Order: sequence, then structure tokens, then C-alpha cells
Amino acid sequence: MSLTNRSLVTIDDLSDGEIEALFSLADEMAESPADQAGLCQGKIMASLFFEPSTRTRLSFEAGMLRLGGRVITAVDIGASSLAKGESIADMARVVGSYADIIVIRHPWEGAARVVADYAGVPVINAGDGSHEHPTQTLCDLYTIRKEGRAIKGLRIALWGDLKHGRTVHSLIYALARFGATILFRPGPGLEMPKHVLTRLSTEYKGELKTCRNLNQELDRKLFPVDAIYVTPSSPHQLAMLPDISVGVELKAGIDALYVTRLQKERQAPTAEVQELEKGYPVVDKKLLKGKEFAKTLVMHPLPRVDELTHEMDADPRSMYFKQAAYGVPIRMALLAVLLGAKEVTIPKEEDSFIPKIDHPVYKRDSGVKCPNTNCVSNQETEVRYIKPEFRIVSRQPLTLRCIYCDHEMHPQYVASSEWHQRKLENKKYHSADSHFAHKIKPENLIVFASEDEARAQQFKPSSHIRP
Ligand code: ASP
Ligand code: CP
Repeated sequence: MSLTNRSLVTIDDLSDGEIEALFSLADEMAESPADQAGLCQGKIMASLFFEPSTRTRLSFEAGMLRLGGRVITAVDIGASSLAKGESIADMARVVGSYADIIVIRHPWEGAARVVADYAGVPVINAGDGSHEHPTQTLCDLYTIRKEGRAIKGLRIALWGDLKHGRTVHSLIYALARFGATILFRPGPGLEMPKHVLTRLSTEYKGELKTCRNLNQELDRKLFPVDAIYVTPSSPHQLAMLPDISVGVELKAGIDALYVTRLQKERQAPTAEVQELEKGYPVVDKKLLKGKEFAKTLVMHPLPRVDELTHEMDADPRSMYFKQAAYGVPIRMALLAVLLGAKEVTIPKEEDSFIPKIDHPVYKRDSGVKCPNTNCVSNQETEVRYIKPEFRIVSRQPLTLRCIYCDHEMHPQYVASSEWHQRKLENKKYHSADSHFAHKIKPENLIVFASEDEARAQQFKPSSHIRP
């Protein structure tokens, strides 16, 4: 399938083969940048950065200029008509009529999807709230590959603010798909969100295990409370061991350590940022002197604050400035293919782990809202054009996943739109976990946020209601 005119909102918009093809093109771009200068002549890229950025914005802009294209830019919501109450959809339609491609960074989760839905031109997500940052993942994977390491079988530890860091959210899905083994080392209270973990184990067929046997002091310092994610490439590796030990895991060595900063700007207003900072794990030379880190690539999407000491900069294991530098060839390759200026050959994907589950869609006005207050579907309140939309990812327990931000919810009450003989007195609602509820076809399913909501819509409780 061609990449021309496609958007990149989440890392799962690209198959493993497409990622490989982009990497080969990035190699070509890096080898002979001067030869690329005519590729995007006459094309305009709109660069909309409604959150701070150095690397992503400037490498996209540098990339477009190197391809011979031009750039228009907006960097402040306050200086755009969004500040006057314009919807993201209207902005997208308008910018899509000025530019051939849009790159957007926005503080709301799902904002890039809305832009992609309305712009009529390819849209690239340059970071939407805590949700995803797929082009950073391309830079990360490309760096690992350039260091001669395979992602399949890679042992990588994700470090820091796993709750709010959008880079790790995109990265983890790609790592899972390519078959890496991932260890989590969050700061206290900054664990990987449950919906991400659930998705890894249900859709990427990974196995999540909690590490035990924290015997050694160093192990405890590195991974005080942890979970290990086992990839599909070795599903039985740990299942055979009664106790999963961090010590045992570490002995095998860590190929990459992916450090992230505390995302202060995304902490809930009630969070004690100082407390989070105090407990935040720091990576320094001392920590990395163990044998298990001898060949570890030290990675960071940057900007770095205090979580990775400057003494590491001269260390040959440090990769973070390379990750940033690869942003230009990677983004050149991406712009060129999405704009149809370059065709790529997609390698055959024998080993692809991309989940291909076609979950039914739920889109009704029945009172359910995405539980994530920072989701674009809850934020675009002035202009109610976004209807909450979910995928029904499980019936037992009933689980709806927001199509904008991927947060999940478990509604407690449901009904069928095919109520018995269409008689109003048969308009009944049921507990979502009742035997009857499971029999409702997805296309007939109505879910309610509460019993009050069901009653407000003239449904009466059935006998399938749990007290
Ligand atoms: N620059 C990355 C991002 O925008 C990482 C960070 O800011 O910590 O997500
Ligand atoms: N890595 C990254 O996205 O950097 P910026 O926030 O500076 O763009």
C-alpha cells in the first residue's frame, strides 16, 4: 500500500514494513541531502506548534526546506483564531486549504486525529498531550538500528514519567510489535497507564509479570517495584519460572535505557510536583557502571532536565544527541513519501505483530463521555461537533476505548436498541455484566454512564440489574 496522502496520527498507522522502508529512505536522505532539494519544490508544510518544541518543529522545518519545500508556521494558540473560540476542525479545514501537509503539536489528546479528520491533506502528529509522539518513535528506532542493534529481542528499560510521557506511549507499541522485551522503571506514581498495559497484553499478545526477589541493593535501586513485559517472540520464556527476578533479568544485560523527564506541565493541579521530583530516578555514571550496562545505549527524547546527568554526554553509550540529529533525515523521508514525492518499496512483513483486530465502533449520544478530561472530545466544549466515539474492545468486562485518546472505560449499564416487540414498556436497561447484556449485538448496544442516564432516556431497570 502506498504511503502517499496518508496521515500519521499514531505509530500504528505505519506497519513494520513501512517503518523499515522509511528508514531505508532516511539513509538515502542522510547520504546525499543535496540531491533531495527538488523533491518537494512548490509544496507547503504548515507547522502548527501549540506547545513548546525545539527538535520536532525545527527538524520538520529544516527537513521541508532541504526537500525544496516551504513552510508556514503558527506557534501560539493565543495568536491564532483558536483563541477566539474557533474549533480545531474549522482551523484544520482552513489550514488544509493553504498547505499540502500539516504537522501539529497540541496539548489535547486526540487533537491530531481531529485535524486529520478535517484537513483534507496529510497530517502528522508531532505530539498530542500525553497520548502519542509517533515521529519521535521513528527517530528512536532508527537510532537503535543505526547502532547495529535489532529491535527484535532487544532488552530495553523505559525510565521515568511513563504515565504522561507521550514518547514512551508510541515507543512501547512499536517495540512490542517488533518483538522487544521491555522493563518498566517509572518514578513513584508515574507508572504506565493501565489502558496501555491492558492493550499490550490483549492486543500485542504480551505477557506482563511483576518482578520479585529484590535481593540486591542495586536491583532495588534500579527497579524497586516493577513489571516486566514479555514479548510475543518469547512467550514462554518467563512463564516457566515461578519467580521473576530483577537480578536474573539484569544479568542478561540491558541493550537500551530510555530515560524521560518528569512531564511537569501535565501533572494534575493537585499533584505535589516537588514530591514527584524528589522520588524521580536519576541516571548517572555511577548507576551505569554495572556489567549489565556495559553495552547499553542511553537514550532520551530530550529535553533533559535533571534525570540524566551531563557527565554522561561524553560517554560513547549516550545516544540522545544522535536521536535528535536523525530527526532531519527521518522527517525528510516521511514528508517526501506522504507528499507523494518519493515512492518506497515496502518489505514483506512475515513477522509483523501489528494488531489487526477490527473492533466494532460505538457512537451514540447516550451520555457516555471519555473518562480523560484532557481528551479533545471533552475539551472542544464550545462547539459540540465532536461526538464521543469508542471502539468496543471487550464485552467481558464491557470495555470501550476512546478513538481519540485511547483511554478506556467500563460502563455499568446497557440496553439494546432492539427492545422487545418495540413496545415502550419493554425499553429496559441491564447490568453490563449480566448474561443478557452479553447477548446484545454490538450494532444494537446502547451504553449508559449511569442508571440516572438510562432513566433519563426512558429506560426502566430490567431483572438483569445487579443491586
Ligand atoms: N520532547 C518530547 C515531547 O514533546 C519529550 C519531552 O518533552 O519530555 O514529548
Ligand atoms: N523530542 C522532542 O519532541 O523535542 P521537542 O519537544 O524539543 O520538539
